[in-house]
Amino acid sequence: MGYVFVTRRVPGRAVDLLREAGHDVTVWPEDLPPSPTALRDNLLEADAALTLVTDPVGPDLLAAAPRLRVVANMAVGYDNLDAEAAAAAGVWATNTPGVLHETTADLAFALLLAAARNLVLSDRDTRDGGWVTWSPTAFLGHDPYGSTLGIVGLGEIGRAVARCAAGFGMTVLAATRTPRTEVERELGVERVPLPELLARSDFVSIHVPYGPETEGLMGAAEFAAMKETAILVNTARGGVVDQDALVRALRAGAIGGAALDVTVPEPLPLDHPLYGFPNVTITPHIGSASHATRARMAEMAARNIIAVLAGEEPPNPVNRPPAPRPPA
Ligand code: GLV
Repeated sequence: MGYVFVTRRVPGRAVDLLREAGHDVTVWPEDLPPSPTALRDNLLEADAALTLVTDPVGPDLLAAAPRLRVVANMAVGYDNLDAEAAAAAGVWATNTPGVLHETTADLAFALLLAAARNLVLSDRDTRDGGWVTWSPTAFLGHDPYGSTLGIVGLGEIGRAVARCAAGFGMTVLAATRTPRTEVERELGVERVPLPELLARSDFVSIHVPYGPETEGLMGAAEFAAMKETAILVNTARGGVVDQDALVRALRAGAIGGAALDVTVPEPLPLDHPLYGFPNVTITPHIGSASHATRARMAEMAARNIIAVLAGEEPPNPVNRPPAPRPPA
């Protein structure tokens, strides 16, 4: 039996699963994440932590949590968590692959459609009393059907986006370093270098993980290479896009618009220039936010904790501690 700290209320049966496995569980009760000090205090005695993308876990925190054996991140991305430092400290780090790609792809596609067809803008205008007649010229967008979609990063989520695109008769290009898959061949995805993808695409959707290699991947040169009508969709991580360069590109009309579920920082402050563009749609990092998917993610994180506290390897590790910490 161990002591597990869960950094926010989570949907589904995750907490029940942990308790049914005999663990003592504390759930942070507030809507906002624990502060770094509160996180540190709550991990002092913890054997396991179920964390979210809003919880930074670095070497100092790991050193201050001597009993900790696993940090189970309820997300597929784990850039909030220093997995190497965790391994060095003997702590397993885990994520939630394979359960959120369709949901996140749905959101990417929803953003693409919303941006292409001015959904958010026209809804706002309707509420403001702007719907005075059927207009032959108002809210003209661009047709996703038959257009070209460029997918940057063809992992699980990128491939799910390619499947959505197939239903819209889109030509799908991909710039990726992932091994070629059968799905990709079946869908007729064409692999091209990033500059070619940017030059040919009507929509560019980002699906790479965030890290030193992808930080600012979409910068001034990339926006300059895009079509003036092209729309950028980002459901990956804000840091993959150089936001200042994006603002400049939007101001200059170098691209047609952007639909962003992720920004730097999160939340994006209300005085940020990105909010000033009518052709920018911003959602609050809700890529995986469906009832079923968030429950699956939390339960997967719980199962990783249960495995480690039972002395087993977790099913979804993102690191491999050479000398896992023994039970305290
Ligand atoms: C959410 O952003 C995730 O990485 O799962």
